[in-house]
Amino acid sequence: MTELEYGVLKGVGGSTINRLLKAGFTTVEAVAATPARELAEKAGLGAETAEKVALLALMHVDPGFVPAMEVLQRRRMMMRCTTGSKELDRILAGGVETGSITEFIGEYGSGKTQICLTLSVMAQLPPEQGGLGGGVAVIDAEGTFLPERIVQIAAARGMDPKEVLSNIFIAKCYNSDHLSILIDNLPGIIEEKNVKLVVIDSIISHFRGEYLGRENLSERQQKLGNCLHRLMRLAETMNVAVVVTNQVQASPTVVYGDPNRPTGGNVLAHACTHRVYLRKGRKNTRIAKIIDSPSLPEREARFIITEKGIEDVEEAGD
Ligand SMILES: Nc1ncnc2c1ncn2[C@@H]1O[C@H](COP(=O)(O)OP(=O)(O)OP(=O)(O)O)[C@@H](O)[C@H]1O
Ligand SMILES: [Mg+2]
Repeated sequence: MTELEYGVLKGVGGSTINRLLKAGFTTVEAVAATPARELAEKAGLGAETAEKVALLALMHVDPGFVPAMEVLQRRRMMMRCTTGSKELDRILAGGVETGSITEFIGEYGSGKTQICLTLSVMAQLPPEQGGLGGGVAVIDAEGTFLPERIVQIAAARGMDPKEVLSNIFIAKCYNSDHLSILIDNLPGIIEEKNVKLVVIDSIISHFRGEYLGRENLSERQQKLGNCLHRLMRLAETMNVAVVVTNQVQASPTVVYGDPNRPTGGNVLAHACTHRVYLRKGRKNTRIAKIIDSPSLPEREARFIITEKGIEDVEEAGD
């Protein structure tokens, strides 16, 4: 990250820099992750100045065409967060990665929220222990991200529940416009609290509830796409892991096998880097399958939901 100070963005005056700092933009990356329109609003800049600042910040962060070797080196900055289950980590090539959006899809009770809760605890472990060594920001659209469960998971894993709670920042989300506002606020909290994992549980429920009927579908998809686009930019520019959950709907055309398909259509499918489909197995077990990833093969993993959050079936002694 580059501290925002006079001189780093060539041609931007001291008073503009001061306004940005006052509005909470303390790094160039945070400026780059914010649309110009919003910079104008938050820092009280003129439209033209905001456009210029946004462009310069983006140029600072994005060096344009670079040799593939450099891309590889940059990807090495990528970190992975263990999910709490070695099996699930294995199919994710080590865990949930920073710089990407990972989507967990499944029907009710399939374990989406339990995975998010466990990740929120695990992310705080130091990298040597499989964590990201940072805080967690959660956008809870369903009201199910319960601190009591975080306490239980942390304690069962031998971590200090109080400390774990103090590094998780939860925002309840009441509707899709609110989601958009909360996403706008993410760069600030990411910087301020050294957040390394952003969780959105779920990304789709408000959109599904608010935009009923075919005639509203394109507007819904446009707004959803905009939210995802900003999340992707955030993941990349601030090197955080973004995890979103998604629901399923039964496809009427499927006669044999599982009729459930992810909701959110192409917009969600394209925005998420890795997609993991969850289904219920026997007892408390769950089966996770990679369904769409540029780098991961389509493998399956089994895990179980316990007091530790999620863990391997074997470890739970099943
Ligand atoms: N402390 C616990 N110990 C064991 N199992 C638990 C515990 N807490 C929750 N579960 C199990 O987790 C399951 C619920 O999983 P989860 O809340 O992750 O579902 P979800 O995929 O988020 O569903 P929804 O779409 O309704 O949000 C239930 O089957 C419940 O029995
Ligand atoms: Mg849930």
